[in-house]
Amino acid sequence: MKHLFSNYRLKNCDLKNRIVMPGLASFLIEDDGSIPDKTIEHYRLRAAGGPAMVIMEACAVSPEGIVSPHQARIYDDRFVEGLNKIARAIKSEGSVPAVQIHHGGRQTSSKVIKQLPVAPSPLPCPTIKGDVKPLTTGGIEEIVKKFGDAATRAIEAGFELIEIHGAHGYLVNQFLSRFSNIREDRYGGDIEGRTRFAKEIVQEVRNRVGKDFPISFKISAMEFVKDGLEVEESIEILKILLNAGMDVVQVSAGNDATPEWICQPMFMGKACLAGFAGKIKKALDIPVMTVGRINDPLIADEIIKNGTADLVCIGRGLLADPEMPKKAMEGRLDDIRTCIACNTCMESIFRRGRIECLVNPVLGREKEMAFHPAKTPKKVMVVGAGPGGLNVAWVAARRGHDVHLFEKQPQVGGQLIVGSITAFKKEILNLIRFQKRQIERFGVKCHINHEVTANTVKAQAPDIVILATGSVPSFPPVDRIDREIVISVNEALNNGQQKIEKAVVIGGGPTGCEVALHLSENGCQVTIVEMLPKIGAPLESITKKVLIRKLKDNNVEIRTGSKLIRVEDNGVVVAGEDDTQVFIEASKVVAAVGSKPDNRLYNQIKSLGYEIHQIGDCLEPRSAKAAIYEGGVLGRSI
Ligand SMILES: Cc1cc2nc3c(=O)[nH]c(=O)nc-3n(C[C@H](O)[C@H](O)[C@H](O)COP(=O)(O)OP(=O)(O)OC[C@H]3O[C@@H](n4cnc5c(N)ncnc54)[C@H](O)[C@@H]3O)c2cc1C
Ligand SMILES: Cc1cc2nc3c(=O)[nH]c(=O)nc-3n(C[C@H](O)[C@H](O)[C@H](O)COP(=O)(O)O)c2cc1C
Repeated sequence: MKHLFSNYRLKNCDLKNRIVMPGLASFLIEDDGSIPDKTIEHYRLRAAGGPAMVIMEACAVSPEGIVSPHQARIYDDRFVEGLNKIARAIKSEGSVPAVQIHHGGRQTSSKVIKQLPVAPSPLPCPTIKGDVKPLTTGGIEEIVKKFGDAATRAIEAGFELIEIHGAHGYLVNQFLSRFSNIREDRYGGDIEGRTRFAKEIVQEVRNRVGKDFPISFKISAMEFVKDGLEVEESIEILKILLNAGMDVVQVSAGNDATPEWICQPMFMGKACLAGFAGKIKKALDIPVMTVGRINDPLIADEIIKNGTADLVCIGRGLLADPEMPKKAMEGRLDDIRTCIACNTCMESIFRRGRIECLVNPVLGREKEMAFHPAKTPKKVMVVGAGPGGLNVAWVAARRGHDVHLFEKQPQVGGQLIVGSITAFKKEILNLIRFQKRQIERFGVKCHINHEVTANTVKAQAPDIVILATGSVPSFPPVDRIDREIVISVNEALNNGQQKIEKAVVIGGGPTGCEVALHLSENGCQVTIVEMLPKIGAPLESITKKVLIRKLKDNNVEIRTGSKLIRVEDNGVVVAGEDDTQVFIEASKVVAAVGSKPDNRLYNQIKSLGYEIHQIGDCLEPRSAKAAIYEGGVLGRSI
């Protein structure tokens, strides 16, 4: 990986390798904009993992530009002290501290900013909707100046590169694109007009920072909407910005109507935006950063080797494993906790107001979840090697406990093995690979093909028993559900080469949708029957959008508001909202209605006097995220 680990000079910045952490809103910010210690630790750890540069998350240049009360801010001198702590923490670990400056424009809500969002034109944000206030020329000039003030504060705070957020459908992007800018004055119309706002911002920032200081511009080079930006137009825009004083471009994609191009879910190819970066590099021959689903250092190395880009941004990959660059440099690729592009991080910032990660429960809790050696090493017996059991086992072993992990199946991974069968979820295998590697690394004694009973527990005589026995599939309580035609999700996915001609999937939750897509991609005619008015309810929104589109592309029939009444030998009878019953023919009926905790072993041993803990699905069927988190917490506390 010599290409990825070669150094690079960007204006007056020396970069020790080609890896950049792009802006990633952690939202680990207090409501008053102050920066708590956990945020500083979050950034320090990212820098310590070895990227050449860390770009601090989007900082609002103006109060009406914030998109969440947890967003970082740079619109007042009082924020400089906190920002300086972050810049120093990044620098102290040998990485270049950079910061992104940002205005949300119409892509925020009046609930957050207590006034109407501003925009180039009277066109509401496609997802948030609601009225917006078109900016006057005076308003535009004020915001340009605020970007300049932000740049002055960024330098005071100790940052060594400033990135202007011109992407993802936020204010600067809104001006650039005909999709959101229908102004008829000098800030709209042709490319020159639509680029004027961005150009003035670059000029203002350049005036504030001096000629040698590097300025980056993040662009959504493709918006994937009618009238949106495309690469050719983006190249013309970048020419104007280069003349105005921009030095380097980060090539991203998407806007609020196409968020799947901003944070590409696992359905989308790795490095799927690198081609656009390559086109820009070829056309302009300027420093180019590429971003987007580059979660593998080997792919990153290839990008640099081929000259597609000069720098590779790894975002979610460094949330999942901040030490990825270091591990890659040391050749420890198997030890990398790879981002699986599930977008838990994106969902958590907006739904929970703080960042979380499915594969890395420590994200955002770096201080509270630091490792400390066990005070008294104990014999710990873990039953079940799904994500929960694997995680608690290696975490406890790492702290010095003598850990014995038992799994009745011939391989570890639990339900995630079946969860990784579909073509679009192969990334999950990386999670199992990582957990397995940690088990070996920290000396967990692994007993596979070994079903634990009360007698096994007695024979082992552990100090602590941890049950991570997971869950077993549920079946709906309807007439004739025990017919041969009815199969579980596991059976449907493990069907091997046996083709199912026609299937009805009962349940349109995440698993039902995934199974339906898998079957339809393998030539099966599929109908989903769901009681609720919508399918995919608890799924992360970007993943849901792409999944539903794919179901439609594969002609999956979706019957919402429909209830299973009974099973026949050759199909099912379902009732719609008006109680009319219809028969749907099928060769298989897949029950995807959830699962119930597997508490069989718990019931056998609960009165034997052992210290027993339960984690994951055997407490309550939920997700790998919950199981891993609970394993991480318990492993640190025993
Ligand atoms: C098709 C599918 C797709 C999914 N996709 C996702 C996803 O994308 N994201 C997500 O977060 N979640 C997903 N899930 C849910 C997720 O897999 C589970 O929530 C998670 O695996 C629960 O982890 P766990 O460790 O608690 O239990 P499990 O994964 O169920 O593991 C329990 C293990 O215990 C073993 N065991 C049980 N009893 C004994 C015993 N007596 N002795 C020895 N071993 C025993 C079992 O064999 C099993 O391997 C999916 C589930 C399915 C079925
Ligand atoms: C949780 C989260 C927060 C993000 N915040 C920002 C941000 O503040 N500024 C920005 O330009 N992009 C932001 N992005 C987009 C990323 O910088 C990056 O473009 C995107 O995640 C794709 O790269 P990746 O696959 O390496 O993560 C964010 C993405 C995520 C997942």
